[in-house]
Amino acid sequence: MAEDLLDVRHEPKLRAYALLGEAFEHTMGDIADPVTAMATISALVHHGFGFLWTGFYRVVGPALLRVGPYQGTLGCLEISFGRGVCGTAAAGRRTVIVPDVREFPGHITCDARSRSEIVVPVFDRAGELQAVFDIDSERVNSFDAEDEAGLQKIMGWFERAP
Ligand code: SME
Repeated sequence: MAEDLLDVRHEPKLRAYALLGEAFEHTMGDIADPVTAMATISALVHHGFGFLWTGFYRVVGPALLRVGPYQGTLGCLEISFGRGVCGTAAAGRRTVIVPDVREFPGHITCDARSRSEIVVPVFDRAGELQAVFDIDSERVNSFDAEDEAGLQKIMGWFERAP
């Protein structure tokens, strides 16, 4: 499929995310499976931008995340709420942007090449936290408010899944 080859590295960020969001929604059609959606988003965003690690940690307990669909090297399997960047985002139910992971106390290193990171919360139809979406980049300062806005828009699918 053409969507597999979507390269958005040369697009302005907001347009890049809009293109990826369109490709995602088009690919999903009327399939309402959240795990399928997570796998599809991970593949599109990871290869679209050429990130280091891109994927989801799903909420599997009152305060526990477990790795879900992702692209990249082996991710750590479980993260408690409050730990690392993912756990901080999950506990606060908010986006966390880390410009330089070396300056984030408690950062969990799954891939030593990681330099910056964004984690976005994912809510279901009931407004409950379902997962967090984590992207790691090899470059410092890769993420800003445009990434947050673009990603939050894509994650809106989970709040209105068909
Ligand atoms: N860096 C994350 C851990 C997950 S991985 O990088 C795949 C964190 O501190 O939450």
